[in-house]
Amino acid sequence: MKTIVISLGGSVLVPDIGNNNIKQYRDLLSSLKDTCRIFIVVGGGGEARRYIGAARDLNIDEGTADEIGILITRLNARLLMHALAKDCYPDIPESYNDALIAGESGKIVIMGGVTPAQTTDAVAAVLAERTGADLLINATAVDGIYTADPRKDAAAEKIPFLTPDELIEIVQTGRMDAGSNNVIDLVAAKVIQRSKIPMVVLDGRDPEGLLNLIQNGVNRGSLVSYNPDLAAF
Ligand code: UTP
Repeated sequence: MKTIVISLGGSVLVPDIGNNNIKQYRDLLSSLKDTCRIFIVVGGGGEARRYIGAARDLNIDEGTADEIGILITRLNARLLMHALAKDCYPDIPESYNDALIAGESGKIVIMGGVTPAQTTDAVAAVLAERTGADLLINATAVDGIYTADPRKDAAAEKIPFLTPDELIEIVQTGRMDAGSNNVIDLVAAKVIQRSKIPMVVLDGRDPEGLLNLIQNGVNRGSLVSYNPDLAAF
């Protein structure tokens, strides 16, 4: 059975708590649970941004604000975990080792952030390494990786295939700013480079696209890999 790690953006799952997509993702993940081993890393979304903003207004340092952000990612993760009930390991691992132990249950494993100064994309990349995942999926609020921020630059083009080295160049040179700037953090890109695990960045607001990728290998997002053939997955 293939192992898949999904970085599920908070902006996708919980843009804000009163307007969340947890039911939709619960049904999607339940339908996939017998197809592959699934590990999910949930982001913080709007609520994390609001808490971090409140911390900054109080002159709380960035590392501490990160810790608050991590707590929100774990809270979002917990909501999805309870929604999945028996299909999901019944706790939120706070370390990679604990996630591996949880994976031994054969159930879907859900976690949030781990340590300050990174995002849940980095957590998902390391988790993909630790679990020997076949594929890493980054389900986010844009439909792929662009040459520039498509909201600011009309000439921006989606890149359907790029190598990890090209991704690092884009992330490092800041050609991917604002919303798309946050598509992948540099730590995540470097982990993908060293592990060579293929990553697909796709629009998590379209769960059908995620389903189509996992069940049929159809990719409508951007593939980051040294091998352009996703069929190999
Ligand atoms: P994310 O940045 O991963 O969530 O975590 P997000 O913004 O919801 O993700 P997208 O944009 O939808 O993809 C929220 C915040 O939690 C802290 C950081 O401050 C981050 O901005 N965090 C998260 C950490 O410090 N370490 C972690 O391991 C994870």
